Amino acid sequence: MTGKIIGVGVGPGDPELLTLKALKVIREAKVIAYPSIETGESFARNIVKEFMSKDVLEIPIKIPMVESRFPSQLIYNSASDEIATHLKREVNVIVLCQGDPFFYGSFMYLFSRFAGKYPVEIIPGISSLNACSAVSQRPLCSRLESLSVIPGGMDDEAFLKQLEKEDAFAIMKVGRNIAKIKRLLEQKGMAKRAVYVSHATLPNQLVLPLAEAPETAPYFSMILVPSKDEYVIY
Ligand SMILES: C[S@@+](CC[C@H](N)C(=O)[O-])C[C@H]1O[C@@H](n2cnc3c(N)ncnc32)[C@H](O)[C@@H]1O
Repeated sequence: MTGKIIGVGVGPGDPELLTLKALKVIREAKVIAYPSIETGESFARNIVKEFMSKDVLEIPIKIPMVESRFPSQLIYNSASDEIATHLKREVNVIVLCQGDPFFYGSFMYLFSRFAGKYPVEIIPGISSLNACSAVSQRPLCSRLESLSVIPGGMDDEAFLKQLEKEDAFAIMKVGRNIAKIKRLLEQKGMAKRAVYVSHATLPNQLVLPLAEAPETAPYFSMILVPSKDEYVIY
């Protein structure tokens, strides 16, 4: 017998968007791991901190903000060793993941290390895609339409190709890519119906037509391009 590693989606930011299941396991947890930036706090932990037991053991996984995957891989290896010591003692380990664990979630890096070796459970969370669509009041697509999720860091050629393929788009990881994204959407005549959302569901949430979006976007921002102009109500 060993403990179980549980990847828990904690939603886009507003603690009221936690699922009942997530709340239950977080309240009962003896060990909680979460990603955090090297110098600062953890977004995922901040969402749930009021529900964590006072004597919970915390494992912050401090990810360096660099392009190369290499240092992060070493950090995930060492976090995995630490998590495994608890699993071997038959203690469950909760891993917090902002949004949903399997939608661009960092939990995947732990999942690939533990799946097949230890029991794993995934508790889905409300993703930022759902949250941004809801707070901006932009239905994304319907009936036979398709939706494409595009990472903002994609190169121009691949990005433009993607825009030709589908009906509606969600562009993630906007951050420092905002100027490029604006330019490419303008080129395709899609900029007018695009909306910019940052920090969805949090007190500092911003929802703006793309034309009015700030020149520097934070990491937690997304651009939605609904399939039809009729879905855009200003
Ligand atoms: C590494 S991905 C994590 C996605 C997350 N697992 C989910 O299910 O939403 C980070 C990206 O998600 C988007 N994102 C996450 N939370 C957001 C929020 N509250 N408001 C706007 N965008 C958000 C941003 O595009 C950000 O760059």
